[in-house]
Amino acid sequence: MAITNLHKSRKDKFVEFYTRLEDIENELCHYTEYFEGKTILCNCDDPYESNFFYYFATRFNDLKLEKLICTCYNGSPVAYTQMSFFDGDTEEGEQVKRSAYKVEIKEVEDFDKNGATNIDDIDILLKREGVVKRLEGNGDFRSAECIELLKEADIVVTNPPFSLFREYMAQLIEYGKKFLIIGKIDAVAYRDVFPLIRDNIIWCGYNVGHFWYKVPAYYEEKSTDFKIDEYGQKWRRVGNICWYTNLDIKKRHEKFEFIKKYRPEDYPKYDNYDAINVDLVDDIPDNYWGVMGVPATFIGKYNPMVFDIIGLSASVKYDRDIVGLDFLGGNDASPLLAQKKKYARIFIQRRR
Ligand SMILES: C[S@@+](CC[C@H](N)C(=O)[O-])C[C@H]1O[C@@H](n2cnc3c(N)ncnc32)[C@H](O)[C@@H]1O
Repeated sequence: MAITNLHKSRKDKFVEFYTRLEDIENELCHYTEYFEGKTILCNCDDPYESNFFYYFATRFNDLKLEKLICTCYNGSPVAYTQMSFFDGDTEEGEQVKRSAYKVEIKEVEDFDKNGATNIDDIDILLKREGVVKRLEGNGDFRSAECIELLKEADIVVTNPPFSLFREYMAQLIEYGKKFLIIGKIDAVAYRDVFPLIRDNIIWCGYNVGHFWYKVPAYYEEKSTDFKIDEYGQKWRRVGNICWYTNLDIKKRHEKFEFIKKYRPEDYPKYDNYDAINVDLVDDIPDNYWGVMGVPATFIGKYNPMVFDIIGLSASVKYDRDIVGLDFLGGNDASPLLAQKKKYARIFIQRRR
């Protein structure tokens, strides 16, 4: 496939969105205790592009890591630009074979002897023979060789492609891995992700909201949530982003600050479920002990000592196992308020 076609086919698919270092730092600073002596895997990360790799490589000694493994996918346009590294110089414009590669780091030294281990040392390290190795396959996280690396890892930390989030999460669970990954809050409502949240197997990390991502040059300009910086770098802002993890965090045990009191006139019940509707997480009332339907952003403030997650509202088709509540009838199984459809709701209840 010509590179332009390849780029076209990837356009707008939330694939090549590169996470900012500050977003990684703001989240990972809460987990440093977990990293000591551990093998960290970043398996959707080109070491020449990924700030996840940069974060762990430059802090390798401070975090006392055992090992850092990073693999890149050969679909990455960045991998393409690094091709000369493996495939030798090519004629300009010539189609070259695309490769995926891995980096395994067991130590980082002050190679340039400037008194600190920093990005220059990582550059030197990456140029050393045997540090960057070509993968046999395309670097797909589901491939046998990448799964072998997954088995070796203690903690997986990355921003995987949103379009493969379900499979990515399922694989982490299947291999019993600890992880900290970025995803869309909407993923809570995925049939296979929701039970993990409900059953307290995974939860939401600290930072929730809009994230700016670096996007490749071929990315189409948008009128909103898009900018080009002074260096000509394109950026895209994506809303409703959160971190998913199964590492315990203090936030999960913080008190929920109730601002509102329950008054029946402020919180009508759905037509088709025995639950009140709450439009904003901050409006969850202090003194209501029945079931409440809250927006998916609730998971950002979920403390399992304060609330139970009962279920997830159905969209069209009713399934008792997921919804967790009896369906009171009607044509539509989505939550209806005076016959008006509400967005997906998580059904929760105060714990006594
Ligand atoms: C949302 S981007 C994030 C990149 C990087 N983790 C970061 O946060 O900056 C997802 C990355 O996953 C890569 N990718 C896409 N499909 C993949 C697959 N099947 N296996 C591994 N990586 C994949 C893409 O090439 C892309 O670089």
